[in-house]
Amino acid sequence: MISAADLKQGLKCSRFGERIHSLERIDSTNTFARSLAADGAAEGTVVVAEEQTAGKGRQGRRWLANRGENLTFSLILRPSIPPNFINLLPLGVAVAVAHGLQHATSLPVYCKWPNDLLLRGKKVAGILMEGVYGRGELDFVVVGIGINVNQVTFPVEVNPRATSLALHLEAPVNRIALLRSVLESLEEEYDAMSSAGFQNILPAWLELAPMIGTRISADMHGTTVTGMVSGVTPEGALVLHTEAGDRTLFAGDVTILDMESHAPRN
Ligand code: BTN
Repeated sequence: MISAADLKQGLKCSRFGERIHSLERIDSTNTFARSLAADGAAEGTVVVAEEQTAGKGRQGRRWLANRGENLTFSLILRPSIPPNFINLLPLGVAVAVAHGLQHATSLPVYCKWPNDLLLRGKKVAGILMEGVYGRGELDFVVVGIGINVNQVTFPVEVNPRATSLALHLEAPVNRIALLRSVLESLEEEYDAMSSAGFQNILPAWLELAPMIGTRISADMHGTTVTGMVSGVTPEGALVLHTEAGDRTLFAGDVTILDMESHAPRN
């Protein structure tokens, strides 16, 4: 069990992780964090669980993770972000998680739009962001992060697209040290984005997600669209060059078709 006291020991953050709820078992850390935030929990509050019985993934999917082998946690943010830049927040979080994982393991973790983390072409971590609005304004965001750490076999429904850090390191990873590294990176990146402007995340994200020029397919309102990524807008949307012209993708899932050319740079 990851105890709040162990996690706090040596945690180099000023606000993130100041309040930690460490749970044995919960339906979803995001759901729990949402109710804490609705009751006024401070920015930086962390909820971490050994086991989720109804872990949520993006696009209404489930997030499956073996008990005690991985990291499943949520972080409460109260960002002051202009509505048109809201799609940059997931990119910034992805960059922070990639840096945190790289720092702790030296593995070449990189990003896939909008906020998946890949390790040698397979998914090693996922992020689910849930924004809650009140009177038309963003009240808070719950950032849910699932990292495949020490799990070495995956259920058929996610295999063979999933991997874990331990599979690549061929050794178990200390989950507490890893979580500290990710939280430190999240606070650093979030503070930098909040003060310098959220658009400043784009160069770092592009560096970690060399998607420009790759061929992808994307689900757009139920139809599959295939094309070449030609850029990212200043608001963080993906621009896709298709036979029918340019399409802009604000949300959704993409599949990289030529994974070979999408090699990490480190
Ligand atoms: C994805 O589909 O890639 C996003 C997965 C997000 C999973 C994490 S695990 C902790 C948090 N609580 C949840 O219920 N989901 C997120």
